[in-house]
Amino acid sequence: VQVGLLFGGNSGEHEVSITSARAIIKALTCGSNMNKYDVKPFYIQKNGVWQTGEIPQQVLDSGFALQSQSSQVWNFPSTASDMDVWFPVVHGPNGEDGTIQGLLTLMQVPFVGSGVLGSAVGMDKIAMKTAFAQAGLPQVKYMTITQSNIGSNPCILPKLYDDIDKNLGYPCFVKPANLGSSVGITKVYERQGLKPALNKAASYNHRIIIEAGVIARELECAILGNANPRASVIGEINYNSEFYDYEAKYTYGHSQLIIPAKIDDIINQKVQKMALQAFAAVNALGLSRVDFFYLEDTKDILINEINTLPGFSPFSMYPQLWAHSGVAFPELLDILIQLALE
Ligand code: ADP
Ligand code: DAL
Ligand code: MG
Repeated sequence: VQVGLLFGGNSGEHEVSITSARAIIKALTCGSNMNKYDVKPFYIQKNGVWQTGEIPQQVLDSGFALQSQSSQVWNFPSTASDMDVWFPVVHGPNGEDGTIQGLLTLMQVPFVGSGVLGSAVGMDKIAMKTAFAQAGLPQVKYMTITQSNIGSNPCILPKLYDDIDKNLGYPCFVKPANLGSSVGITKVYERQGLKPALNKAASYNHRIIIEAGVIARELECAILGNANPRASVIGEINYNSEFYDYEAKYTYGHSQLIIPAKIDDIINQKVQKMALQAFAAVNALGLSRVDFFYLEDTKDILINEINTLPGFSPFSMYPQLWAHSGVAFPELLDILIQLALE
């Protein structure tokens, strides 16, 4: 079986994708998967240009992104049409958001993970929250604004600040609607911090979300399957920083995963049930990691988000949750490919 491993991508999570792809290609070409899959890496540079041949392997070996050159033009590699199945490991916009899934759908080749709808809804935090609300899943209070709204009327910003003061309070979180890995997110402690936070979020996406901050434990659950998906054991994230930011996520020693999370059985079951509901609510397929806030005092569980292509290094939460649920990393990848071929 020829597997096209698509990684890199035109997004702020490019480096994370390289790390995920390095782990995946290793596990797909050794142990029980050896000789089963012929994996061809396809690298999408930061400028969106696709690379095949030796360059993807060089990037995987070194772990470093390739410098983009302005003279390069997008070209669809002819070898792409030889793949039996695709494994897109591209996080964030232009990868996790339905764009690549649309291309692969048009090519009529099966691929791992969600289709266009699940990917698009799961990636856009505003669409995602609307789908969760529709499914009756509890969430933090939030407001939304678009960049064009901010620019169109000078009265909008003071009014927005007043509404945030009144409805959300501080700290609040300002986020671009379409990213992951905490890129572009600011924790805002007072009204004066809103403007730079909104500008930062707007530099990534014209859709912005502002959420009431909660003090909570962070729990995560992995989902695997298509029509009858299953939920993994629950994991908890601990970190020393003000929130689970990019540095805490990807700097060794800055965060710890606790698996299984030390929570009551009832909470455990509730989180698993909500994770499966969230998976269905956005029409996800194959895999997802669903993240929660657990407010221990009141025992409230609020859904934070779904990631339809979660981080995939062997130390990432998604594969770790399955390892603790009895599915080892190479077997997990095998299942994901088989689910795509169903
Ligand atoms: P991303 O998609 O980039 O992972 P998240 O929405 O998950 O973005 O936010 C990243 C992190 O920021 C969370 O894991 C959490 O630590 C913190 N955070 C985000 N929103 C809130 C909130 N409303 N209250 C408290 N912490 C939050
Ligand atoms: N967006 C990153 C890869 C994650 O959620 O794991
Ligand atoms: Mg998150």
